[in-house]
Amino acid sequence: MKSILLTGGAGFIGSHTCLSLLENGYEIFVIDSYINSSRKSLENVLKILKKKYNRNLKNSLNLFEGDLKNVRDIEAVFQKANEVNKSIEAVIHFAGLKSVSESMAYPLCYWENNFYGTINLLKIMEKYNCKNIVFSSSATVYQTKINQLLNERDKCSPVNPYGQTKLAVEKLLKDIYKSAPSEWRIACLRYFNPVGAHESGLIGEAPFGKPNNLFPQITKVAIGIMSEIKIFGSDWPTPDGTGIRDYIHVMDLSEGHISSLNYLLKEKPQMITLNLGTGKGTSVKEFIRTFEKINNVEIPFSFVERRPGDNAFVVADNSFAKSILSWEPSRNIEDICRNGWNWQVMNPDGY
Ligand code: UD1
Repeated sequence: MKSILLTGGAGFIGSHTCLSLLENGYEIFVIDSYINSSRKSLENVLKILKKKYNRNLKNSLNLFEGDLKNVRDIEAVFQKANEVNKSIEAVIHFAGLKSVSESMAYPLCYWENNFYGTINLLKIMEKYNCKNIVFSSSATVYQTKINQLLNERDKCSPVNPYGQTKLAVEKLLKDIYKSAPSEWRIACLRYFNPVGAHESGLIGEAPFGKPNNLFPQITKVAIGIMSEIKIFGSDWPTPDGTGIRDYIHVMDLSEGHISSLNYLLKEKPQMITLNLGTGKGTSVKEFIRTFEKINNVEIPFSFVERRPGDNAFVVADNSFAKSILSWEPSRNIEDICRNGWNWQVMNPDGY
């Protein structure tokens, strides 16, 4: 059984990916500082597996509380894995801060966590001769285009510190790859807008404090925790005047990680950059209307000024990912609305 380390494995995308890895027979190690996540997410992952397969996989899930800013915390995981003869074969690196507005107010904190944290991780990976990594990047690295799908060869030019840290890590990984191309296997996955929740309603997105992103706000309005959605702009150059994004179900995204990992581990050493999105755009208004219809709830909204740094249209050209991985998103916006609402209703206060 292969051992995989997930940094930030208790977070939103991390916890869903833990589930997919365990379902696919991997042994996993998780390091998480829990500053933006909860231990309960991984307890619930085990509950889902117990219910579905009647198997207790507790021994395949090795948890470590730690922060990537402390190199010793990272080394402790690699050491432990070696001690129990389960050396880590690859890392999926989710850990990082992800709020655009916060990154503009606290750039040092973002660079320290996202960039310096990754340097520490890579140093320990080299020391333990682990040279396989899947990195959580973001579509935010792109310079956006008007009404055109973004593809991996498009120009990158992030407009905020959060995006700068993601692109900087991609560049660092490129240098590392070039230093030993016959040894490293690296995948940078550029996520579009991950949303929704596992169909069980036991794991989902649980932001601390008021969410910034659209989808968790929709579910909070639906359940009455917030009174309305403030739509950022009604005059974008789109058919209904609201912003268009590529919303991808978090389970499709997590399965994209498994496919990327399987691809890397079976192919020759290489570095790949892949868009993980659906290739389909949905406007803010369409998303709200779909959520109302599928779940039979009302989502009041009003229009406010455009949010600085926003764009009209951010949608993936996902043809490269589809062509090299045996992966394709299989869930649609309706599934996202249904599963996301189920998670909110079952967990009104998060974990
Ligand atoms: C945001 C980040 C992006 C990050 C991604 C995932 C910005 C500018 N971009 O993407 O870097 O990778 O989250 O965490 O913050 N909207 C409203 N009202 C709201 C919230 C959102 O109208 O209260 C609209 C936005 O204008 C946009 C759409 O909903 O058109 C989606 O917004 P959001 O969920 O914040 O994601 P992005 O901005 O695409």
